[in-house]
Amino acid sequence: MPTAYFTIITHAPGKIILLGEHAVVYGQPALAVPVSQLRATAMLVPAPQCIIDAPDLRRRYPLSAALPDDPIAAAIRLTWNRYAPAGKAPHFELTLTSTIPIASGLGSGAAMSAAVVRAVAGRLGHVLEPAEVSALVFETEKILHGTPSGIDNTVVAFEQPMWFISGQPPQPVTVSGAFHFLIGDTGQPSPTKITVGDVRRAWQANPARYETLFAEIGACVTQGRAALSIGDHYGLGMLMNLNHSLLQALDVSNNTLDTLTQVARDAGALGAKLSGGGRGGNLIALVEEAAAERVRAAWRAAGVRAIHATTLE
Ligand code: MEV
Repeated sequence: MPTAYFTIITHAPGKIILLGEHAVVYGQPALAVPVSQLRATAMLVPAPQCIIDAPDLRRRYPLSAALPDDPIAAAIRLTWNRYAPAGKAPHFELTLTSTIPIASGLGSGAAMSAAVVRAVAGRLGHVLEPAEVSALVFETEKILHGTPSGIDNTVVAFEQPMWFISGQPPQPVTVSGAFHFLIGDTGQPSPTKITVGDVRRAWQANPARYETLFAEIGACVTQGRAALSIGDHYGLGMLMNLNHSLLQALDVSNNTLDTLTQVARDAGALGAKLSGGGRGGNLIALVEEAAAERVRAAWRAAGVRAIHATTLE
């Protein structure tokens, strides 16, 4: 019987953590924002068997040959098993591309999984609610990150700025006015699984010190939410700087991130911090429009590989 023709294309955005990374794994709140300029795209076309083609990862392989810890294969299987009629096997070629740098704190893994989940569900005639996408992507995040808080899958699935506490329903964030952020890529890949694992070991060795730091980060996030809601740019900038210092104390920053956050502040940014797992990856700076070009130029001169801009309003 000829296969019906179909092409399905789906997307999911990247993300930045505005405040609260790492502490969020330990029950503190965090604020995260989707970055729609950066995104993962999944395309499904008919094929005699299920093939995964991931040119950015330089990989093309049948689903049947995927390794047990392959998050793309997991996203396909989880979605297919949830929504396909019993006994029906997947027959499609999935091409997965992404403009989100890998292992750089911008949620590339969660975005790729979200695009795959949406495409596979689409193949089965389902348009999923964000919470359904988020729950399936969370399962793939466990493969990628070990003990994820759930913030990455939440923000890429809901595609809205989110106040997030692990295990509680996420809340969209109220924002007064416009907050402009620059995102700078250090060009140093840093898998989140490693920094999250290191923080866990350090917390186990010294729970009192780490829990104090987590609580201080949580307080920054609570104040940051208030700053966003009243349009307090200076307040938010100060909280980003403070959050960066607390991340230094957690030992997830490095010389490059410390230098580049200072370069941004010296060039007029209201605040700057690492964003995501740390020890490389990306940093973010809050800028007034008038200072944006100065910060960009200073970052370029200091060796930042790529700069993106996003506005929260
Ligand atoms: C990663 O984007 C944020 C971390 O807090 C890890 C997590 O929340 O799962 C470092």
